[in-house]
Amino acid sequence: MRITIFGTGYVGLVTGTCLADAGHEVMCMDVDQDKINGLKNGVVPIYEPGLEALIKQNVADQRLLFTTDPVEAVNFGTLQFIAVGTPPDEDGSADLRYVLNVADTIATHMQAYKLVIDKSTVPVGTADRVSGTIARRLRQRDVDIPFDVCSNPEFLKEGSAVEDFSQGARIVVGCDSPRVEPLMRECYAPYNRRQEKLMFMDIRSAELTKYAANAMLATKISFMNEISNLAERLGADIENVRRGIGSDPRIGYSFIYPGCGYGGSCFPKDVQALARTASDVGYEAELLDAVESVNNRQKTHLFTKLSQALDGELQGKTIAIWGLAFKPNTDDMREAPSRKLMEAVWAAGGKVRAHDPEAMDECRRIYGERDDLALTKRRDDTLEGADALVICTEWKAFRTVDFRRLRERLTTPVIIDGRNLFDPESVRAAGLLYFAVGRADSL
Ligand code: UGA
Repeated sequence: MRITIFGTGYVGLVTGTCLADAGHEVMCMDVDQDKINGLKNGVVPIYEPGLEALIKQNVADQRLLFTTDPVEAVNFGTLQFIAVGTPPDEDGSADLRYVLNVADTIATHMQAYKLVIDKSTVPVGTADRVSGTIARRLRQRDVDIPFDVCSNPEFLKEGSAVEDFSQGARIVVGCDSPRVEPLMRECYAPYNRRQEKLMFMDIRSAELTKYAANAMLATKISFMNEISNLAERLGADIENVRRGIGSDPRIGYSFIYPGCGYGGSCFPKDVQALARTASDVGYEAELLDAVESVNNRQKTHLFTKLSQALDGELQGKTIAIWGLAFKPNTDDMREAPSRKLMEAVWAAGGKVRAHDPEAMDECRRIYGERDDLALTKRRDDTLEGADALVICTEWKAFRTVDFRRLRERLTTPVIIDGRNLFDPESVRAAGLLYFAVGRADSL
């Protein structure tokens, strides 16, 4: 099958590469010439495990093509995936400018039937707007070319996107035309062999499914963060509580890890956008608003603990930070708790020495060169002259620590652990003060 993908961001690139790897001929289109030139030569703009090798192999096999030419892109595939960004507007709603531009581009150049697939996370009702945009342009061109629009939301997680694409639990397709199902079945056939994963439904339900899934997961996290704040005040240990409730299959163990707040490009944006959609239709989504405000508060939690541990005196202090990415196995720092922490430390007159296995270039890109930020190649070099260590991301490489050596290197023996990586007893046995999430502090 010939497939075109608009947008070589994280979603578009993973989708295009995995579909090419499944044997389809895929052309990825982006307006960014440098990015496309890079991709043609195997330079991958994001860090995603397994992706670079797959891109190189499928480019070499000529199943994966890249272009900046919209005419070539539109005329390539019968299937046209829209996977461009939907950044939040100031009011929290998704900005559909890029999505609708692509729809218009498709309608401007199409010469034969196209199935246009909304892959980006878009508010309920967007497929209708995409259809309207295409129909308008075709009328203007005075041509009568058939097309369909369907919704096919993605459920990939950063850091395991390639694996999620091939082993995902479901493939949701929202459509309103009998032409769509056979085409989508053919597209996903390589990933639908062992069990039936394709779920066909009406378009609006598919669009809402995506938001409901992310909002549900975000709710689980905010709920656990709320209970962990209670546990701290009640002298309970959230890690015991987590195990206790997770063992009930109705609750389950996944996505109930407390921490320093969820980040990334999806949960914060999608929870806000869904709340905004609700208010647009006259419904106050009280739970969604609470999920967001609990999360915003949780992101300030590390700094509050740090201030308490250092008696409110951050001026001139150096804070070591392990982990800048919003979660492990990615270099993405969008909405990362580390950013709230660093910015608060700087505002209080402190300095930061940070390390992350993948996100240090991204950190430099965001904050530039500054006197109060040192990024160290080695994890333990952050500890040099540091008054406290704060852990923001649970990278595997942070889990094994010689606490006695760490104690010797820190000026003040304080660890703030935003991910509950360690057994409090072992940390304290080395003479360190240990502050974690939802567990009794060593104050
Ligand atoms: C999320 C969803 O998990 C994907 O299913 C979805 O496709 C994607 O958004 C999207 O809409 O594109 P992602 O943002 O990559 O994926 O990251 P997650 O692994 O879901 O983690 C999100 C945040 O929640 C991270 O900051 C993580 O640290 C936090 N988290 C996760 C917790 O604090 N506790 C948990 O138990 C789990």
